[in-house]
Amino acid sequence: MTAVTVLLGAPGSGKGTQAKRLAQHHSFVHLSTGDMLRTAIKAGTTLGNEAKVFMDRGELVSDATMIGLISETVCSLPQKSKVLLDGFPRTLPQAEALSKTASSPVGKVIFFQVPEKELIRRLTGRRVCSKCGASFHLISLPPKKDGICDSCGGALLQRPDDSEGVVQKRLAIFVAQNSQLLDFYRKQAKLVEIDANQPVEELQASLLKILSL
Ligand code: AP5
Repeated sequence: MTAVTVLLGAPGSGKGTQAKRLAQHHSFVHLSTGDMLRTAIKAGTTLGNEAKVFMDRGELVSDATMIGLISETVCSLPQKSKVLLDGFPRTLPQAEALSKTASSPVGKVIFFQVPEKELIRRLTGRRVCSKCGASFHLISLPPKKDGICDSCGGALLQRPDDSEGVVQKRLAIFVAQNSQLLDFYRKQAKLVEIDANQPVEELQASLLKILSL
């Protein structure tokens, strides 16, 4: 049996940052659908080529594609894995499909709350290493040398979907989908809402409490 914890939240709410830390220090398997799609784009696979068109416009990739991708990945994990889902589910059909996977029941669903103004600040200032994927922020987490990754020396780039116009569209899509997801998990008493507008370390401490770690 695989235990699944879902991190829900708007683009820029800090899901990826927290999931990476939990994976590093608490042996979670971090599954980020955004990272999986970006890997496919880099590798030039059919999935990557198809997804890129939607991602660059800030739109969602189809439910059928995403449900297939996640079920295949979750099923391939060793028994008793502890999984953190980051970026999935994003729509009600995705949540319903996930709930039907008997071998990987969803435990807690943690919703990261951050005001819109702060989300825009975080996303438009984010820079990502083109080599190792490390994430920086121009103001709150600047690299030691402008445009260069502290960890591997790779070039820092802005994600194509982090430009201001695309960010607005991603946020609008999030708002349109999210209340249905919250209702779905609230009815199952799985939803935990958390103030994610706090420093990374403090948010991590709150998450560890929620996860009883
Ligand atoms: P994805 O990569 O999942 O993007 P997202 O959900 O929009 O999430 P982000 O990575 O932008 O934000 P995050 O919450 O992880 O924040 P982060 O920790 O990085 O998806 C990209 C695209 O793929 C989608 O638009 C869609 O096209 C497609 N896709 C993916 N999954 C899909 C699905 N299930 N269905 C359909 N399509 C799908 O932090 C952001 C910034 O803030 C960083 O600079 C960071 O340093 C900073 N920061 C983080 N935490 C804090 C903090 N506590 N205080 C201050 N700054 C912070």
